[in-house]
Amino acid sequence: MTQDAPKRGLARNVANYGDRDFALYLRRSFAKSMGYSQAMLDKPVVGIADTGSDFNNCHRTIPDLIEAVKRGVLAAGGLPLAFPTLSLSEPSLFPTSMHYRNLSAMETEALLTAQPMDSVVLIGGCDKSVPAQLMAAASADIPAVQLVVGPMLATPFQGERLSACTDCRRYWAQYRAGTVTAERIGQIEGRLATTAGTCGVMGTASTMACLAEALGMIPLGHGSIPAVHADRLRAAEEAGALAVKLITAPVLPSQIITEASVENALRVLLALGGSTNALIHLTAIAGRRGIKIDLGRLNALSDSTPVLVDLKPTGEGYMEDFHAAGGMPALLWELRDLLHLEAIDVTGTSLRERLVAPAFVDRRYIRARGEPVSPVGGIVALFGSLAPRGAILKRSAATAALFETEARVVVFDGLEDMAARIDDPALDVTKDDILVLKNAGALTPAGMPEAGYLPIPSKLARAGVKDMVRMSDCRMSGTAFGTIVLHITPEAAAGGPLGLVESGDRVRLSVAKRSLDLLVDAAELERRRAQWTPPAKATRGWDRLVQEQVLQADEGCDLAMLRLEG
Ligand code: FES
Repeated sequence: MTQDAPKRGLARNVANYGDRDFALYLRRSFAKSMGYSQAMLDKPVVGIADTGSDFNNCHRTIPDLIEAVKRGVLAAGGLPLAFPTLSLSEPSLFPTSMHYRNLSAMETEALLTAQPMDSVVLIGGCDKSVPAQLMAAASADIPAVQLVVGPMLATPFQGERLSACTDCRRYWAQYRAGTVTAERIGQIEGRLATTAGTCGVMGTASTMACLAEALGMIPLGHGSIPAVHADRLRAAEEAGALAVKLITAPVLPSQIITEASVENALRVLLALGGSTNALIHLTAIAGRRGIKIDLGRLNALSDSTPVLVDLKPTGEGYMEDFHAAGGMPALLWELRDLLHLEAIDVTGTSLRERLVAPAFVDRRYIRARGEPVSPVGGIVALFGSLAPRGAILKRSAATAALFETEARVVVFDGLEDMAARIDDPALDVTKDDILVLKNAGALTPAGMPEAGYLPIPSKLARAGVKDMVRMSDCRMSGTAFGTIVLHITPEAAAGGPLGLVESGDRVRLSVAKRSLDLLVDAAELERRRAQWTPPAKATRGWDRLVQEQVLQADEGCDLAMLRLEG
């Protein structure tokens, strides 16, 4: 091997010993120890990012998917090499999987640029894994195909269907209200997630799979295939073959993730009635390419994008219904006049070329434009004295009667305070109050958990209260529902006005005016600000890096140093 040899396959990114030929000689000799023939070692290399883990139930099919990707790569003439990366399992991580999304993105980016691969298939699925992989691909900017594990199937149970995690929350709320017994909640626990795959509703994982398809990083029609369906393996095989093709005819993430495709993804998020978390993730992915998502623009898009998909948590269907109904090809066709059709995907073709009239659409789950679930989009941004840089409300999952509310607030200083007092029979709270949780944003040790779905105080739940206005600087699961204001920015720990709110203050929410205001006079707020102290800093490790670098929700909660500036 000489200096003139093409720097592809194993010849890419050789270790820096000061003698490139020697470094390559060493690498090839070690690679031979794995039993590859010379002919195999001469082929272009497709990396396969493996996020399987015994801690990650959603990803338990990844070994099968890797085998299928390898089939596709080998048949197309490449050498497939799988490598492990962080596995982010939503229910298995403390304090939250969100706290580790950026760590996974950093690690994956480093491995994409450090290891000798010409292209990559990224296998993810559970909530934060796909955002992390897309952030990494956007930064590394090597040819990349996103593959998702796919959604789980819903389980028939005593005349209804159950799936994580909207039904988990629905039954848990009934259990708290005393209308479901301990025995029944125990039975249901074993029926909520019975197959491999990501949550079976339009939660964050499903939303991100659809947005990855809308962005163009997943081939059209592949995002919603159920985890256990044979088509999921065929999609994996295709992803492998496509990754080989991308080596000779590259289409880079920087060509795919553009202003146009990001706006298409925003339209899709709104039409899905998708997860609010996806807005943070899309902002972070776009930020890796220097693209800013403006919340004012989000409101303009929301007012002109109907909700067309009728799935839980806001509707009745599950992801398997969405897929069988036509999936993203049908939804994008329905939205086509609102989309930037020049946007290309990982196959190098424009949306205009890819979209064709679907032969069949099940209108129970994907509505026609003339008969939307809602004439306007699922998410709106709010601004005002309580949220100078914005906050988010998923209006499609909220109670319209609460959209215009001015009320007294009951404040919890943090998660521990909320846990200690929310069910206290002596808590001074009525159904007309607003519940406020502060100190739970990205800067806090809580790691911006999905705690924005504050439980209804049990004495109110037992009295039949189903929804109240709730507000916080944290997030909400994409599978949750209620009149819930999220991502208040700046967060309390960053010195935002939220940190100054006290029980008994009044707050005004107006969805019509897109406003969120704290009705406390300026002098009183100044008095409180003089007494406010910032939270203690973490002293070491990842927690310290997060506290020094993490951006606020309106900037995607990425680490500042990882964004592409300009
Ligand atoms: Fe993995 Fe819901 S727990 S997607």
